[in-house]
Amino acid sequence: MALYSEKVMDHFRNPRNVGVIENADGVGEVGNAKCGDIMKIYLKIENDVIADVKFETFGCGSAIASSSMATEMIKGKPLSEALTLTNKAVAEALDGLPAHKLHCSVLAEEAIKNAILDYYKRNGIPYDEATFGAHSCAHCEDGE
Ligand code: FES
Repeated sequence: MALYSEKVMDHFRNPRNVGVIENADGVGEVGNAKCGDIMKIYLKIENDVIADVKFETFGCGSAIASSSMATEMIKGKPLSEALTLTNKAVAEALDGLPAHKLHCSVLAEEAIKNAILDYYKRNGIPYDEATFGAHSCAHCEDGE
């Protein structure tokens, strides 16, 4: 079996929503200390809905594919729904990632949450801190 699914290869070769949104309503940036990869997500938000989303990822192919898929999954969705997106759902939508690459999809989940948190903070919107707490990725907790 190939290491990467066709969907991963497709989103890696033709990533959707790459770029920057000038005057974004929320920006989230996360990095993985271990591999040094960085992901940045820009959100345009209208009436609590993600009207547009773009990303810049300086990272591995799985991180690029995960960002591309994750942005597709939250575009046009209400913030409440985007906040429920898990790295597991992103990996499943990509027809799976190799176990040692699952942490790459965690970056996408965290970058989106950070961008929404940034939007809440900028606008003084109250939020539930638990929503933005530590993610549960066994790999990262193992320090892998
Ligand atoms: Fe760093 Fe994939 S190896 S995000």
